[in-house]
Amino acid sequence: MHGIIFQELQQYVETNLGNDAWDALLKGAGMPGRVFMPTQAYPDEDALALVTTASNITGNPAPAILEDFGKYLVPDLYKLFGMLIRTEWKTLDVLENAERSIHTAVKAKDPKAQPPSLSCIRTAPDEVTIDYRSPRKMCGVAVGIAKGLAEHYGESIEVTHDVCMLKGDPNCVIKFKLVPIP
Ligand code: HEM
Repeated sequence: MHGIIFQELQQYVETNLGNDAWDALLKGAGMPGRVFMPTQAYPDEDALALVTTASNITGNPAPAILEDFGKYLVPDLYKLFGMLIRTEWKTLDVLENAERSIHTAVKAKDPKAQPPSLSCIRTAPDEVTIDYRSPRKMCGVAVGIAKGLAEHYGESIEVTHDVCMLKGDPNCVIKFKLVPIP
């Protein structure tokens, strides 16, 4: 997992739980004092250990933490990689292009980045279906990013996620439908 994601996780934890929370989390996950550089990649197990420990400390289930973290990531993704996102795009366009235009370009720019493999299809004018498969099983991040995108564009989406790796399925199928703002 890329160091940028660990740095974002640190910011997310400090913003939500206070400045000492990150140190406590590192300690709880068995890596006290650990520093993550934004130019390096680190074992996925470290990210999983941090999320599991955060779940144990807060009592919040890991998938819910990952979803909230995904939502938190969106403004920074725009700051860091905004040049990959066309100005005319809205929520469903970004989701439809997540693999073809975004993750592919991220990998080309930084060979250390290993974003998940996504198949993103516009299954209806108001719907994008993403097939997600990753050994990290961080589908919650995908759902959170999508919700953060909707917030960014002032839109509202409905998420259906019945087929899921966390339930033992070999992949996740996540449908994102644009709905009128409540
Ligand atoms: C806004 C533009 C986006 C950028 C710049 C971006 C970039 C990245 C980067 C750099 C990583 C870390 C890869 C690594 O650790 O090596 C990542 C991970 C991830 N991305 Fe994206 N991404 C974007 C949009 C999306 C969208 C729209 C989705 C799906 C809805 C998505 C799903 C994920 C997931 C689930 C991960 C976690 C790692 C995993 O599951 O294997 N991303 N992305």
